[in-house]
Amino acid sequence: MIEVKDIRKSFDGVEVLKGFSLTFEKGNVSLIIGQSGSGKTVFLKNLIGLLTPTSGEIMYEGKNMVNFDYAQKQKLRSEIGVVFQGSALYDSMNIVENVKFPLEMFSNMSNADAEKRALEVLDRVEIAKTALKKYPSEISGGMQKRVAIARAIVNKPKYLFADEPNSGLDPKTALVIDKLIYDITKEYNTTTVINTHDMNSVMEIGDHIVFLKNGFLEWEGTKEEILIAENPNVIDFVYSSNLFKKLREALLKEQH
Ligand SMILES: Nc1ncnc2c1ncn2[C@@H]1O[C@H](COP(=O)(O)OP(=O)(O)OP(=O)(O)O)[C@@H](O)[C@H]1O
Ligand SMILES: [Mg+2]
Repeated sequence: MIEVKDIRKSFDGVEVLKGFSLTFEKGNVSLIIGQSGSGKTVFLKNLIGLLTPTSGEIMYEGKNMVNFDYAQKQKLRSEIGVVFQGSALYDSMNIVENVKFPLEMFSNMSNADAEKRALEVLDRVEIAKTALKKYPSEISGGMQKRVAIARAIVNKPKYLFADEPNSGLDPKTALVIDKLIYDITKEYNTTTVINTHDMNSVMEIGDHIVFLKNGFLEWEGTKEEILIAENPNVIDFVYSSNLFKKLREALLKEQH
């Protein structure tokens, strides 16, 4: 479980995260949604320790990581898997090498064991054996995301983060990626946080949705709740497409 308490982050005196509190539960996928510039990526970077909050607390299992010393930070890093925006695979390494890399960094595993573990997770994300020696530039965008997910889970992380894992994918492939992250969260019992602005993801895996607006926590709830939310900013975001507007009308009609 991760508890965020009154988090604030400023850059050169400009406040980007404006003080909000949230809890992310173990075995759950939380989706952070919000318009471009609302602070999703800055928030995620604070959560994983790439940025330090200006004030506030980020409690991992009750311990505030903002005050961690070097050794504690290293330990936490080894328990975190991240799928970065655009996959961020290493171009000069083939797929197996990419996935083995965190094990070489963070574990004392023998090369043979690391190879075995890498093949295991690549099999889990359904990368064909024939693709294992290929380089990132030789596989499709959807496959790259799956490899990035394999790399993020190879260390058996307790916490899994993804920044826009769907960006650049067609809607069908995007759903496959969502479902994969969702299933892995249940199988590994990770505390998972995903940034997205994709309403398809929200409808598919949105058990816990967090809506950020302009650095504030504007709304929090489930996918069922978001469709009938009364908050005008939520309505504006969710019903930016006509299809969803019609869906809302139908839902409200059903209720009355
Ligand atoms: N290193 C930085 N220095 C100064 N300002 C920053 C920095 N990083 C982000 N910002 C600002 O913080 C705000 C929030 O940015 P952020 O990248 O978190 O938005 P986002 O919600 O992830 O948007 P998108 O959906 O486009 O990815 C923006 O106004 C951005 O310019
Ligand atoms: Mg972003």
